[in-house]
Amino acid sequence: MGKIKIKSPKEIELIRDAGALAAETLIRAGELCKPGVSTLEIDNFVGEYTKKHGGISACLGYHGYPKNCCISLNEVVCHGIPGAETILKDGDIVNIDITTILSGYHGDTSAMFLVGEVSRQAKELVAVAKECMDAGIQAAGEPAAKYLDIGEAIQSIAEEHDFSVVEDYCGHGIGRGFHEEPTILHFRNNELKAMIEIGHVFTIEPMINMGRCSTKTLKDGWTAVTRDGSLSAQFEHTVARTKNGIEILTLAR
Ligand code: MF3
Ligand code: CO
Ligand code: CO
Repeated sequence: MGKIKIKSPKEIELIRDAGALAAETLIRAGELCKPGVSTLEIDNFVGEYTKKHGGISACLGYHGYPKNCCISLNEVVCHGIPGAETILKDGDIVNIDITTILSGYHGDTSAMFLVGEVSRQAKELVAVAKECMDAGIQAAGEPAAKYLDIGEAIQSIAEEHDFSVVEDYCGHGIGRGFHEEPTILHFRNNELKAMIEIGHVFTIEPMINMGRCSTKTLKDGWTAVTRDGSLSAQFEHTVARTKNGIEILTLAR
């Protein structure tokens, strides 16, 4: 691992502002998740709302990504591309992942939304994915926490429910850059021995699968799906370690 940037309280304030706009956009986008709505309509809303509030959709044009946000349904693990042909239907579980740039700083957050009547097992997966993210955040705020404590906390919860943790996609440092150092692993590992220091700002964004952890990318070059076709769920927050512990920066005001 290279050098992890220490952000000043002033920089953390700017990431908090970007994070709040991302979070507010996400809540409103979630309210659009109804049967019959296309993911393109939701993406258009995200683009417009972000602009109207002075922000930039970080995903648009990022390594050639074509839309404002990622919308990942059911067996899609992450990086689902919104489209007019993708119509939400009763029983879908939907992740919307929004990254907003405001005053040059990024805020990155995602959440799951349920469309109509969802199966009991799918609801459990969504609830556990949220629990996993929350446990990862909590672990990152413990005294003398190391980055590897995050993966330990997340994987032990996923295992209790016989779910698996995706290893192919990671959390990341964030600030002026979308994806900065360090890389955050969400699974049990012995690699990330670095301490989480005051001024570190990063995301925790575990992807939890009902079946096995392996993923593959579709021919569009972005959409990641579970190899076994099982359902997948994810939540994401941008957090900062401060002198008071851990602070979530992607909260709506
Ligand atoms: N928001 C995603 C993350 O959590 C990254 C999406 S990159 C994109 O890191 F290009 F696919 F939009
Ligand atoms: Co992220
Ligand atoms: Co994200």
